[in-house]
Amino acid sequence: MVLVPELTAEEKTRHNHLIHQYARDELGREDVNIDLIGYGVHKGVYKVCSGSRGLLVAVGASRELDRLLLEDYVALNELYANAPSFFSKPYAHYTAHTNNLGELISMEYIDMPDLDKLKRETIFGPHLKDLAYRLGRDLGEVFMLTGRYSSEPHDGNVLASIRDGKLAPLKFCDPIQFLPGDLDDVVRSVMTYGDERRECISFAHKFKQGLSEALVEVGGRNQTEASAELAFMTRYSSIL
Ligand SMILES: Nc1ncnc2c1ncn2[C@@H]1O[C@H](COP(=O)(O)OP(=O)(O)O)[C@@H](O)[C@H]1O
Ligand SMILES: [Mg+2]
Repeated sequence: MVLVPELTAEEKTRHNHLIHQYARDELGREDVNIDLIGYGVHKGVYKVCSGSRGLLVAVGASRELDRLLLEDYVALNELYANAPSFFSKPYAHYTAHTNNLGELISMEYIDMPDLDKLKRETIFGPHLKDLAYRLGRDLGEVFMLTGRYSSEPHDGNVLASIRDGKLAPLKFCDPIQFLPGDLDDVVRSVMTYGDERRECISFAHKFKQGLSEALVEVGGRNQTEASAELAFMTRYSSIL
């Protein structure tokens, strides 16, 4: 959980006007339903519903912070182009032409809670071992496909769901924090993250198994090559 200040009332009003303007200009809709579903240091994140269509819209927490949205949008386009099953589909980067309302980006709304929420709403303990595996498998696959790793792998940036009693493949948000790196970065950022990624230390063999599968199934390595590439992980855990 990352604690950040609430959005100011002025910002919420600006966001609302801006989202309505976007809906009119680009979706041709007057009747949109806007729900604030999250906010971080840089932006407010809204679920916007128009008819049966659900969108995720992000707006800068201040006019100055709007400029980061384009960077976010560019990063999302690159991630989605190469690893579409792990990211939401980007729709638009929109700039309002009147009233200094600023900019927004829109993308597919993924109907899955983040891990913060899933942990509040379910008895999550029995899934921690699976989570260690899934983080290895899914972040490993994202890395194989994009060359990028999650530099902020906390619970708010991971969307997860339990289907038939099992943790389904993960999805990831906050595209701007996926940085170019190497396999060492993928492992280091998760294993040194702290409390919220403790399961990858406790079940380090599961995290490693997931990574190894990604190397073999997506990266085209054979088992021996994958083991050799991941040998450095003994640095992080004596159980490996
Ligand atoms: N495409 C999406 N679909 C559904 N929920 C999302 C989506 N993107 C983000 N969220 C939710 O919004 C929250 C904040 O989004 P995020 O991109 O992490 O922004 P930041 O951390 O910069 O505020 C996430 O923790 C997640 O719950
Ligand atoms: Mg985030």
